[in-house]
Amino acid sequence: MNTERVRADGPAVGRAAELLSAGEVVAFPTETVYGLGADATNSIAVAKIFAAKGRPEDNPLIVHIADPNDLEAIAELAPGGIAHRLRSAFWPGPLTLVLPAKSGLAANALGGLSTVAVRMPSHPIALDLIRALGRPVAAPSANRSGRPSPTDADAVCEDLNGRIAMVLDGGPTDLGLESTVVDCTSSPPVILRPGSIARRDILEVTGSLGTADGDQSTRSPGTRYRHYAPRARVVRVAAAQATTLRERAELAGGPAIDPRRTGVLALDEVLRRLVGWPGPIYSLGGNVSEAARRFFRGLRTLDRPSTDVIAVVWDDDQGLGEALFNRLTKAEGKTVDGTVLFVCTGNTCRSAMAEALWNLRYPELTARSAGVAALSGAPASPAALRAIRAIWPPADLEQHRSRRVDEVLDDPAWVVTMTDDQTEWVKALRPEWSDRVASLSRWATGRGGDVSDPYGSSDAAYEALARRIDELLPRLWQVLSERMSKNA
Ligand code: TXA
Ligand code: MG
Repeated sequence: MNTERVRADGPAVGRAAELLSAGEVVAFPTETVYGLGADATNSIAVAKIFAAKGRPEDNPLIVHIADPNDLEAIAELAPGGIAHRLRSAFWPGPLTLVLPAKSGLAANALGGLSTVAVRMPSHPIALDLIRALGRPVAAPSANRSGRPSPTDADAVCEDLNGRIAMVLDGGPTDLGLESTVVDCTSSPPVILRPGSIARRDILEVTGSLGTADGDQSTRSPGTRYRHYAPRARVVRVAAAQATTLRERAELAGGPAIDPRRTGVLALDEVLRRLVGWPGPIYSLGGNVSEAARRFFRGLRTLDRPSTDVIAVVWDDDQGLGEALFNRLTKAEGKTVDGTVLFVCTGNTCRSAMAEALWNLRYPELTARSAGVAALSGAPASPAALRAIRAIWPPADLEQHRSRRVDEVLDDPAWVVTMTDDQTEWVKALRPEWSDRVASLSRWATGRGGDVSDPYGSSDAAYEALARRIDELLPRLWQVLSERMSKNA
């Protein structure tokens, strides 16, 4: 299919509405991000959205309307309820309300749920398009599923060129992060996705808010999937560590991951401290609203073949910062349930390094560590701390504290020791883990070969050890991924 990209003026919007009416899908700007729209009453058209994005079919879409009073036609509203108040306070604008659905909408737009998510955007082009169609428009963000959301027409084309009929180009979007999604079917209401409207502003209207329980992934199916992720690994770095990031990069000789291949996305004040950074950088501007606007573009711009890691320097998780922090955590990709537990003897060196390196490389599966004969609460050994900083600057053991294998409360999915002896100790201490424990070398290569204790040796020996562990991790990941896909 040939994708037509047009400046969004009057005639273009009219043509886009005709395409929607004919059952095609069209990308259009909203004040948050670009949406990929289809007639929400036409299930064949809606199916084209899922196909173009590669979106899981159980992940429902937001239905967009152009008049607040159209809400009653598609959703059940309790008279004088919270949804009324939220609607008057924030529509048109970046707020999505989840309510019981009425009939009339395509079932696949709802992803099989009995509720519907509805929003009235404030962007004039979006409003004109919905009015011209004369029906509600189902529209998720206009990116390939799992990718950063599109905040300009270039981003839409990067992901969907050739897969959709048209892109209405309305320039970069104003807000840059998606709408806040509020579930009004529970009392008090619950924020399912933090977004462009801050929690405190919602709270001012609702008086109270529930907390999203462990059930959140069933209530908002989208939260279950990996999201917002470029091809490169995304790692959050605290601002306090940003200066040492530069020092570490200068120290790093022959690292497993080259700082020249590490992009940095940060506020201007942070970038000023990183002058001379050897890799690509992208500015998040001077404050949180600029950062929100520039975040997704920054991820996409830094995501070049020459970049392995994108370090995002960010701390703020309040107000609009909460929405940005949420997107960042998703981009880091924590999606796999369960953990992999690295085990050595004292849990101050080998297993701690493996944990830190693993969490940088494979954030979708969280790593932890412990020792078969560890003290509890001891910091990482200074030589291990230096070694890990030298081989991969964003890795850090500053916060590490040791613990014993019998102090681990949650059952790990896999246990990876450094030596065959430790495997036997683990089996003795935690017999229930016997079916899932082996040494790093056995997991990764199928053969024995201990990763021995470097205690008392030179910094160079510690670095060599860190590198040896790091080199075995990709094989371990492959083996564990194969097992995960068999279990899925
Ligand atoms: O700002 C936005 O909200 C943008 C623009 C285009 O409007 N849209 C957007 O849509 O971000 P999407 O599909 O990328 O995200 C919609 C989120 C998903 O996490 C989805 O699971 C959730 O809303 N959602 C949709 N319907 C729902 C429902 N009935 N119950 C709970 N969550 C729902
Ligand atoms: Mg999306």
